[in-house]
Amino acid sequence: MCSKLSNKENKLIKNSDIKNLSLEVYSDPEFVRSYAEKIEYNAHNSLYERPATLSLLSNVKGKNVLDAGCGPGAYTEWLLENGAMVTSLDYSEEMLSRVKMKVGNKARVIRANLNNTLDFFKDEEFDTIVSSMTLHYLSDWRVVFNEFSRIIRKNGELVFSLHHPFMDYQFHREGNYYETELIEDDWPAYGIRMKFYRRPLSDVFKILSETEFGFEELLEPLPLEECRTKFPDTYSTLSTRPWFICFKAVRKN
Ligand SMILES: C[S@@+](CC[C@H](N)C(=O)[O-])C[C@H]1O[C@@H](n2cnc3c(N)ncnc32)[C@H](O)[C@@H]1O
Repeated sequence: MCSKLSNKENKLIKNSDIKNLSLEVYSDPEFVRSYAEKIEYNAHNSLYERPATLSLLSNVKGKNVLDAGCGPGAYTEWLLENGAMVTSLDYSEEMLSRVKMKVGNKARVIRANLNNTLDFFKDEEFDTIVSSMTLHYLSDWRVVFNEFSRIIRKNGELVFSLHHPFMDYQFHREGNYYETELIEDDWPAYGIRMKFYRRPLSDVFKILSETEFGFEELLEPLPLEECRTKFPDTYSTLSTRPWFICFKAVRKN
């Protein structure tokens, strides 16, 4: 089902590719259309990852929230419906045009790459940052976590979700769990191959403590009950194997 790129192939990946990892796939109109449609009702996002990640957020009413790696805007829409002022950021034009179709001009929409500094945001501009299923496309977390720490106010919440590293390790045992490794995976539901990074679980806690975030909560989600009847096979997998993982941290000092 999945294959890890060999070390030799890894070395052939240029810095510019690393900074734009998987942008090609996320810019493909057909993939984006299908992704936007599927995540509204599917098991993995709508009945598993999204409810879990959202459950970590405190009340967002009246809060200034950054949706970092917003994709087609499912989180942006939820945040707006729950009374937040939302800035939606992504490196894919195609994704951002979906956000605009979904919420019009209710959100501030910004095209930017999370591998770069976010100089256009002021210090402590946001009360909350949400970043779902995005940070595993970044090879080096220092820039993004430093920037998150700069642009979030003191005591502001950072909530994010990732592939569970144990899931990636289940499918890529030939690698070294303790290294950050580039993985290439088939996504059969979309007919594409996606590249992303797997890193050890402890890297999350390391980067949080290096960037002034205090760890608050880790969630290894279970699918909603509704998933059992709608998608029984996926329910059985997601309720017995780690797949995605969600974190909440708070900016100290
Ligand atoms: C799996 S999708 C998740 C979308 C959305 N957060 C959700 O959960 O529905 C990952 C998103 O991250 C964006 N992305 C990946 N790497 C990025 C980068 N370096 N800078 C900004 N956005 C990035 C992709 O374009 C895509 O929209």
